[in-house]
Amino acid sequence: MKALVCKEFGPAKNLKVEEINEPIIKDDEVNIKVHAAGINFPDILMVEGKYQFKPEFPFAPGAEAAGEITAVGKNVTNYKIGQRVIAMTGHGAFAEIVKAPQKKIIPLSDNVDYEIASILPMVYGTSAHALIQRGKLKAEETLLVHGAAGGVGLAAVEIGKAMGAKVIATASTDEKCSVAKEHGADETINYSNGEFKETVKSMTDGRGADVIYDPVGGDVFDQSLRCIAWEGRLLVIGFTSGRIPSAPANLALLKSCDIVGVFWGAFVERTPQVNLQNFEQLYKWIEEGYIKPRISMKVSLENTLDAMKAIADRKIIGKAIVKI
Ligand SMILES: NC(=O)c1ccc[n+]([C@@H]2O[C@H](COP(=O)([O-])OP(=O)(O)OC[C@H]3O[C@@H](n4cnc5c(N)ncnc54)[C@H](OP(=O)(O)O)[C@@H]3O)[C@@H](O)[C@H]2O)c1
Repeated sequence: MKALVCKEFGPAKNLKVEEINEPIIKDDEVNIKVHAAGINFPDILMVEGKYQFKPEFPFAPGAEAAGEITAVGKNVTNYKIGQRVIAMTGHGAFAEIVKAPQKKIIPLSDNVDYEIASILPMVYGTSAHALIQRGKLKAEETLLVHGAAGGVGLAAVEIGKAMGAKVIATASTDEKCSVAKEHGADETINYSNGEFKETVKSMTDGRGADVIYDPVGGDVFDQSLRCIAWEGRLLVIGFTSGRIPSAPANLALLKSCDIVGVFWGAFVERTPQVNLQNFEQLYKWIEEGYIKPRISMKVSLENTLDAMKAIADRKIIGKAIVKI
């Protein structure tokens, strides 16, 4: 089969499409013929050796895929050959066939096509877990979403609206702000000049935001702690700015706020049933029209590097996928 292969850590441009053997499954695993795979920021970190999980070489990146099952291990009871599924593969999805353990796959709803399905796990799975289980977002609360036109950010905007919150979205260009608005944001702030704290306060009558969704870190995190509401929740999602921030504990004391870690991959590993419930809710929101995943770039396996570069250059709005 064909796969985009990483043989040593380094820049993504070193990856090459090669013929390799199909994955050999264990008793609790399935093989999936990949129709589409979502491309994510962590794929770039993984091939550079900067991600928390480092696969053995050689490996194909690609953390999520949608396709149909082609083989099942003997302990797999809930899935059968030919079934349409979404898989949280961690890596390996930029290939014609990928394997996944049964607890990391989800049946694919009939009303969702493979392309949309391929981008649901990482960004919608993460944002649903962040806002439902970790942020405990309530209707009528104010949700501030940073990097709101990026993958996880745009998903958080839509889920925030579906949960009944007022959503303020930040992004670095006016075009990105308009996209966040098209996906439901009530207000937007172009934070390219580095400032959003005072604007958030004025948009919330001085109260600040109840829940803040932060995939950016660095200065964005620092300012967020200064415009969070009393008993607010600051969700630590990621650090695309490149700096892992440190929080002054006195600010948490003064705002009586929580700084809340979010690690979706470990959540799926530990509580796959709760993740499944989140996906059932996501399917409902898709049917009700709250969620309209935005795919702005589709590439072939051979052109995956173009899309990875666009993500690294901050050029993708919504998501990019590989069609296989
Ligand atoms: N905690 C978890 O379980 C979990 C799960 C999935 C992903 N993540 C993390 O979430 C983060 C975002 O992932 P994503 O897939 O949404 O990425 P993405 O689509 O590339 O979006 C990230 C956004 O970050 C903003 N950004 C600010 N500074 C940046 C910089 N120097 N370089 C690139 N982007 C920058 C950009 O928005 P503006 O241009 O508008 O600022 C961009 O749209 C990553 O760090 C990822 O590892 C965490």
